[in-house]
Amino acid sequence: MPDTVAPNLVSAVSEARQWQRLMEMAALGGFTDPGGHIGVNRACLTENDRKSRRLLISWAEEAGLSVSVDALGNLFLRHEGSDPTLAPVLTGSHMDSQPNGGRFDGIWGVIAGLEAVQALREAGVATKRPIEVVAWTNEEGGRYAPGCMGSMAYAAYRTPDTWNAVTDKNGVPFGDALAEHLASESDIARRPLGVVDGVAPYAYVEGHIEQGPTLELQDADIGVVTGIQGSRWFLVELTGKSDHAGTTPVGLRRDAVQDMVRAITALNALMHDPTDTLRFTVASIEVEPNTSNSVAGIARFTIDLRHPDNSILQPRGNAIDGVIQAAVRHCSVKLTERFHATPTVFAPLVPDAVEAAARAQGLRALRLPSGAFHDAQFMHPLCPTGMIFVPCRAGVSHHPAEYSEPSALAAGARVLAQVLTDLANH
Ligand code: GLV
Ligand code: MN
Ligand code: MN
Repeated sequence: MPDTVAPNLVSAVSEARQWQRLMEMAALGGFTDPGGHIGVNRACLTENDRKSRRLLISWAEEAGLSVSVDALGNLFLRHEGSDPTLAPVLTGSHMDSQPNGGRFDGIWGVIAGLEAVQALREAGVATKRPIEVVAWTNEEGGRYAPGCMGSMAYAAYRTPDTWNAVTDKNGVPFGDALAEHLASESDIARRPLGVVDGVAPYAYVEGHIEQGPTLELQDADIGVVTGIQGSRWFLVELTGKSDHAGTTPVGLRRDAVQDMVRAITALNALMHDPTDTLRFTVASIEVEPNTSNSVAGIARFTIDLRHPDNSILQPRGNAIDGVIQAAVRHCSVKLTERFHATPTVFAPLVPDAVEAAARAQGLRALRLPSGAFHDAQFMHPLCPTGMIFVPCRAGVSHHPAEYSEPSALAAGARVLAQVLTDLANH
């Protein structure tokens, strides 16, 4: 891997253009929260998602890239290589956001991919391999659980119809929302889902804000991501009986909320970790009928469990059902696992290229693992994969206060441009 910097390429990356694009994207689903922070709510397969994709497509076409979409709605922008038959280098991330999300999570990786490819075209840098920028469908899993549907289907980790019956809060099935969405993009060339003609990408590189505090605390410019911790998502449904809150003696109730409290308390004990490495989160709760004077007949809650070590992640996740069954007193328990991403350690090719490019550009690089999951986790089995992190203020993410400096994002795009160029000339 070259350890010299390509000066014309690096100077062709435009901090102003990248920032302007990010701010234009942030207006699609943008809002100001009570604290005055500008956040984004752009769920997948919504009108704002469609508008953001059209905007991206218009920039890509202006830059001379060809655009295609697959059966999961994954969107690809292709820069042709001098040998179009070679496996492409893939870069990108996602454009959907959390409901109370920020302006950079996901979208920066897509915009940075476009910026990097545009810069190399403007600088007249040729590549042997094609480079494709991808915007994966539904990484966040906020509207439809779980996240990473687009990349999971691309990688054939799940079949494309796996989530058709999953509904959003309004009861709209994913399959219907996807069909409507694809119909709205019927003018865009369709490509087969997954690896084309059995040729996996040569490598996958995803740019992302760190979403944690390490780079800022260590005064580093670029995170060389070594891997991603494992995640398991579960949905727990407790069914008891709804009754009158004033007349039903406590001893006769089958109260789903009380059993939920027992279950979560027992799970907190199961997940206790003195090293504070394990992440256990219950953050979405639904109760029926959800009125103050009716005993709850149904309680549903989500579990998000993460750990970098599979020998901890698996047994803790597998113990959930038994712990809940033992904790509840009156309800039946239904446990569904909705997401399962095993811990990932990236092969050296991409991390080494990222570190070399950062060093060649005089940037301070730090190796670190990712606590958040990313589409890169599902690309890892297909091809050498890695990620470039840039610092974000105080590590805040999944919140409107999420912020990265334009100069930090530009530094990330310059490293990405060099890494893509290097890999695409392998
Ligand atoms: C991704 O958004 C995650 O929850 O890690
Ligand atoms: Mn993300
Ligand atoms: Mn996210």
